[in-house]
Amino acid sequence: MSEARAAAAPPPLKLRPTMLSDLDFVTQVETDSRNLPFITPWERTQHEAAVRIPDFRHFIVEAGRDGSRDGFVILQGCRNPHKSVELKRIVLQREGQGQGLGRACVRLLKRMAFRDLAAHRFWLDVKSLNQRALALYASEGFVEEGRLRESVRISGLGEAAGYDSLVVMSMLDREYLARVALGAED
Ligand SMILES: CC(C)(COP(=O)(O)OP(=O)(O)OC[C@H]1O[C@@H](n2cnc3c(N)ncnc32)[C@H](O)[C@@H]1OP(=O)(O)O)[C@@H](O)C(=O)NCCC(=O)NCCS
Repeated sequence: MSEARAAAAPPPLKLRPTMLSDLDFVTQVETDSRNLPFITPWERTQHEAAVRIPDFRHFIVEAGRDGSRDGFVILQGCRNPHKSVELKRIVLQREGQGQGLGRACVRLLKRMAFRDLAAHRFWLDVKSLNQRALALYASEGFVEEGRLRESVRISGLGEAAGYDSLVVMSMLDREYLARVALGAED
């Protein structure tokens, strides 16, 4: 972590359940051209379903004290019989990126997955071109499981752009507990 980042107080962070009235904001953040290369956006109806279906947890990220919205996150597999919970999506407003908010969200989501949802495995996939997210997840203790080779089209650059691979990463409950014992988790 940079010295400037280390010196700054961690931003206060709240994840509150997404409401249907938040979905214009969710769609706007998700389809921001600066975020689009890193995600595969959903139809609004998919977000509506994720807000309603208990297997999902759909949250708005609020980092300030004024109730303004900074992004959204989605967990899937919250009722998975194998206790395998997925960090399905994390997208922050472009203006709020690079200030430690993503790391704070990932820490809170790990806590939620392992402590509240009793997950055995917490996993995600990330495009290999997304170096920022890869570095974040690796530094937060996620282990690479493998790569789904050339499984997603590179968006926004036309047919010639080709394909990117998805990197599957995970953390197991015993790995999380080891990090807690080491003081590596909040
Ligand atoms: C990915 C995302 C959630 C990260 O959140 P963030 O608030 O921007 O990231 P943070 O400020 O917490 O930085 C976390 C780490 O990312 C890495 N990082 C940040 N910017 C980076 C960059 N430009 N290049 C490489 N790594 C970078 C660093 O390791 C940083 O750790 P540090 O504390 O040592 O500096 C956010 O940028 C985002 O919403 N991006 C668009 C959508 C997306 O990519 N979602 C993830 C899909 S899997």
